[in-house]
Amino acid sequence: LACVAPAQASAVQLNIGHRGASGTRPEHTFAAYDRALALGADYIEQDLQVTSDGVLVVLHDGTLNRTVRGPAENCTGAVDTKTLAQIKTCSAGEWFGAEWAGEKVPTLEEVFQRYGKTVNYYIETKTPDPEDDMETKLLALLDKYDLRNASINDWQVLIQSFSADSLKRVHAMDARLPLVFLGTLNAASIQSVREYGVGIGPSFGGVTQANVAAAHAACLNVHPYTVNTDADIARMLSYGVDGMFTNFPERLEAQLGAA
Ligand code: G3P
Ligand code: CA
Repeated sequence: LACVAPAQASAVQLNIGHRGASGTRPEHTFAAYDRALALGADYIEQDLQVTSDGVLVVLHDGTLNRTVRGPAENCTGAVDTKTLAQIKTCSAGEWFGAEWAGEKVPTLEEVFQRYGKTVNYYIETKTPDPEDDMETKLLALLDKYDLRNASINDWQVLIQSFSADSLKRVHAMDARLPLVFLGTLNAASIQSVREYGVGIGPSFGGVTQANVAAAHAACLNVHPYTVNTDADIARMLSYGVDGMFTNFPERLEAQLGAA
């Protein structure tokens, strides 16, 4: 089986800024994304949630409680019970430090407006409810910002999910888009994902040299998450992974540069 990968993704190990440079900046803020890019990240990651008025915003949790501060009526509780206008009254950086109090929860559209086609995006459909139509909204934004073809040809946008159903919904809309399943790396997942995806993103603890080789034999990339210590980064690189999610892109960059 001949494996075909875009030039950008072949023979390189991708540095994926997990929620941006979230080790040193408040996750999923422009500050975190700017910092990740400055530190050498090849991709910045987005986790998607949907507001009550149907807007895709970038936030890891389904609730605002952990990383958002502001008036309780607007800034606590489930994201999908708040309008975008309510969420925009909140700070997405204050919890991490006073100097980032001005950071807001970005919409995905604002992320595309800020970085355009100058960066690569690794976007997760997070706990997608089919009724939210997250996948259709995502593809509409790819088209609005002319990112679809660049994703197909150069993996400018990689779409990831723990939900195979979500990825299959995307695949049904456009079978050319590169998709990564988040889950265990084993024979069953390899057999399943090769039907619709380009890779698997496993938790790094279960990654071995042998299961990376098995994925590669099936033409699937392996992008473990979330690899933060120098020792774990080195171990994953030694197994031949194709990139990894890290809160500290500078640590991965240092090892890739030294290789
Ligand atoms: O998307 C890779 C990794 O981020 C998955 O875990 O919970 O950080 O989204 P989580
Ligand atoms: Ca994620």
